[in-house]
Amino acid sequence: MQIRKTNHEFNFDKFPIFEKDLDPKQRAWIEVRGKALETNVRQLRSKLSKSCQFMAVVKADGYGHDAKVVSEYAIRGGASQLGVATLKEGIKLRSSGVEKPILILGNLYTKSDLIISFQNKLMPTISSMRECLICNNIGKQFGLKFSLHLKVDTGMSRLGFECNKFVQQFEKIKSFENISIEGIYSHLSSADQLNSLDPQSSTQLQMQKFKKLLEEISIDRSHKIKIHLANSAGMLLNRDFHFHMVRVGLSMYGYSPLTTIDKNLSLEPALFLKVKVAFIRFIESGVGVSYGGKFVSTRKTKLAVLSIGYADGVPRNLSGKINVIHNNKFYPQVGSITMDQMMVDITGSNEIKIGSTLILLGSDGDKTISPLDWARESNTIPWEILCSFKNRLPRVQVD
Ligand SMILES: Cc1ncc(COP(=O)(O)O)c(C=O)c1O
Repeated sequence: MQIRKTNHEFNFDKFPIFEKDLDPKQRAWIEVRGKALETNVRQLRSKLSKSCQFMAVVKADGYGHDAKVVSEYAIRGGASQLGVATLKEGIKLRSSGVEKPILILGNLYTKSDLIISFQNKLMPTISSMRECLICNNIGKQFGLKFSLHLKVDTGMSRLGFECNKFVQQFEKIKSFENISIEGIYSHLSSADQLNSLDPQSSTQLQMQKFKKLLEEISIDRSHKIKIHLANSAGMLLNRDFHFHMVRVGLSMYGYSPLTTIDKNLSLEPALFLKVKVAFIRFIESGVGVSYGGKFVSTRKTKLAVLSIGYADGVPRNLSGKINVIHNNKFYPQVGSITMDQMMVDITGSNEIKIGSTLILLGSDGDKTISPLDWARESNTIPWEILCSFKNRLPRVQVD
């Protein structure tokens, strides 16, 4: 086959475009509102006593917001410690320049992981004598004390020493010369349930168990061991749950896990999910939309095609159940959400054009769509919605 040559050949190598050169708002993106995070932390902290510390839980890349950005603004709002889930998350934060104490909430069980944790000044959560001994040996090897938090299981049945054995074990742990116990903590399993303040609720039973344990172990006050139990729900229930520190995630990001909330608290969502309209088309009445043709138009319909789908983290089971916002108006999403795109019925709108920005999560005027709404519709929890957003969505920080 003969290839015809033109006189003016285009030299592609001369015009390389790198990923960083692309407009992050070219398709779909997450807007991270730093000021909202800062204000939320400040407001939540005002509910604590002066001596009670605030640990910002920034695991899972700051609940999908970008852990580095969240940490920066949470610290500005008064967070004095950070909580991550994994060693890698901890190292990433340390290497981004964060100097505050960082607690790894997950379990490190190999000597090599614990050494790396020690070398990066990350505090592991310790749930067994075996790990305590490893930490003590690491401390000895480096001629220093290994700072860590001990966890007790009061009813979550996940990580933690068994309560009834802990009293004895604690005496032994205290005698280890190369570890420094910075905290003792437990985690509530059901603080967001409606009955949490009933004396017989599992939350109250966990609290009683925790308090009893603390009375039984003799803690030398000069050691300044931090006692902590509450997540967002526990913190918002009442002050009894606060102890020396609270570990707060969801409410710091702007959402209350409780149905009844302190009226003086006005949390602001720190995440907006936005998308551009990539295409507009008209279909006649009686035409199927998207895979399976499950939605069939009942009138001449104007459709906007949005460049976002389940590969970005929008749950497919929300198909046909959500709205988007443009200029203080809701528009319904129609047909199955596909991997990379979804359709919205914009019949009657002359304002929406190719390239217009629509809001999937967030607010405009008096219209709001929250991860709590999505969670209700897709039969899950807001934590899962927030953590599902993929890296394909650029995080764009705004103040
Ligand atoms: C041990 C621990 N503490 C605190 C939190 C923060 O919880 P929340 O997001 O409900 O505030 C979590 C989150 O799952 C956790 O696992």
